[in-house]
Amino acid sequence: MKFFIDTANLDEIREANDLGILDGVTTNPTLISREGVKGKDAIFQHYRKICEIVDGPVSAEVISTDFEGMIREARELAKIHENIVVKIPIIKDGVKAIRALSQEGIRTNCTLVFSPGQAILAAKAGATFVSPFIGRLDDIASDGIDLVRKIVEIYNYYGFPTEVLAASIRSTQHIIQAAEAGADIVTAPLKAILGLLRHPLTDIGLQKFLEDYKKTQE
Ligand code: G3P
Repeated sequence: MKFFIDTANLDEIREANDLGILDGVTTNPTLISREGVKGKDAIFQHYRKICEIVDGPVSAEVISTDFEGMIREARELAKIHENIVVKIPIIKDGVKAIRALSQEGIRTNCTLVFSPGQAILAAKAGATFVSPFIGRLDDIASDGIDLVRKIVEIYNYYGFPTEVLAASIRSTQHIIQAAEAGADIVTAPLKAILGLLRHPLTDIGLQKFLEDYKKTQE
């Protein structure tokens, strides 16, 4: 199972990377805007910095919605750094773009996936990753984890090489559930990743061990 961090914040990316368990990064226009990065050059420079921190796939999203625009943007993004994976929305021109980019050898992450049918199209088109959005489905009283389970089952059944990247993760519990559902990758905020560490019995146990050690030094 691989761990990506879902943020464009350089400090958080460094902190997760320093843990030694980080396999990649996902961003989107919302996460980039949250960092106050403005203008194409600054955004590209920001992606470059992320790629220099993490030795793994870094998803950068196109903002065009037509085939030609997506291809043009994807080629520019892919030139920034070899770690860049181009994030493409699952719309008609997006499917065509994923197919063309896969033939060019440019890796893609098919985003905004909310149904098994969309995930089948992404895999057929040759997406490197597919991103089902768990939290946003849960937000509308649907079942995000069930979607991950279904996609994993379908991909395994047909042997699709597209990796299932559980996205829109909102909690530590989501990470566990995505792992149980067989997601290849989970992309999560730093807080949710660090939450995996927490257990009161670990804290109590450690405190007791340290106290008892002190007794051996008296
Ligand atoms: O990678 C997509 C993800 O960032 C979306 O998360 O919390 O905005 O639904 P969220």
